[in-house]
Amino acid sequence: MSLITIDDEKCNRCGICVAECPERVIEMTGKENVPSVTEFGNDLCIECGHCVAVCPEAAFNMNIMAAEACPPRQPELFITLEQMEYHIRFRRSIRTYKKKPVPREILERLIQASQYAPTAKNLQPVCWLIIENREEVNRLGLMVIDWMRSMLNGESKPLFTEFMMKQIVGDWENGGDWICRGAPHMIVAHGPNDLPIPASESGCTIALTTLELAAPSFGLGACWGGYFNATANNYPPLRQALDLPKNHDPYGAMMIGYPTYEYHRIPLRKDPDIKWR
Ligand SMILES: Cc1cc2nc3c(=O)[nH]c(=O)nc-3n(C[C@H](O)[C@H](O)[C@H](O)COP(=O)(O)O)c2cc1C
Repeated sequence: MSLITIDDEKCNRCGICVAECPERVIEMTGKENVPSVTEFGNDLCIECGHCVAVCPEAAFNMNIMAAEACPPRQPELFITLEQMEYHIRFRRSIRTYKKKPVPREILERLIQASQYAPTAKNLQPVCWLIIENREEVNRLGLMVIDWMRSMLNGESKPLFTEFMMKQIVGDWENGGDWICRGAPHMIVAHGPNDLPIPASESGCTIALTTLELAAPSFGLGACWGGYFNATANNYPPLRQALDLPKNHDPYGAMMIGYPTYEYHRIPLRKDPDIKWR
């Protein structure tokens, strides 16, 4: 059975589906110039839904994606160039959070949006672990400190010094939290480490980047948990505590919660280093 069905009567033969299909699985054939799926199209199709989404006549349906189930184009919801530019520049890593937890529905909606980030070959390998309980976030944060303490001596000492671990451990001992920043929740993006192409790492990074960028529109703030994720990849006790599927690796962690403070201006960044050829 074909993955894609094309309604001959609705199709206006414009050929946009052929031009936009990333895997070239649609062709125009016969005198009538009707689009159809190529001989190996069903095997090559990555189920990205572009044919369904780009067809002006809603002539395409996929067995996993009916045209009428796909949300329509709504130009009134597009954001302006100024809004987009400002939003990207105004994003900040947030490191002080209110104690108030974020309702599950809000985190779910944020993740639903982030799920639309691009993934290699549309594999959509990203899975999400949400550490919802603040005490659990803190318990896992302590494991990061344990890992750092274990590196104080021996071969890993240069790493310990380079990444300011002495200060981080000292800060923890004085009641601070350089690891999870007191965030009420931690989101870990993970995915299979045995895919034919390495889609999980880029997929998780891009999805978390999207999530961080979307967070302010939900009234939320976020910050990458770089130390947390490095520990999850290098310290078996934290890895075990995350309890991910056997063939999964953690590819990124992000703190999330309601920000305590508002930012009043945008800090400056380096000019981009661009070469034109
Ligand atoms: C991969 C990655 C890991 C990071 N890890 C941490 C971290 O563990 N703790 C932290 O406070 N900030 C972390 N950050 C945030 C950076 O410090 C921050 O992006 C940078 O200082 C610029 O600030 P801005 O995000 O507000 O522009 C990380 C950022 C990235 C991209």
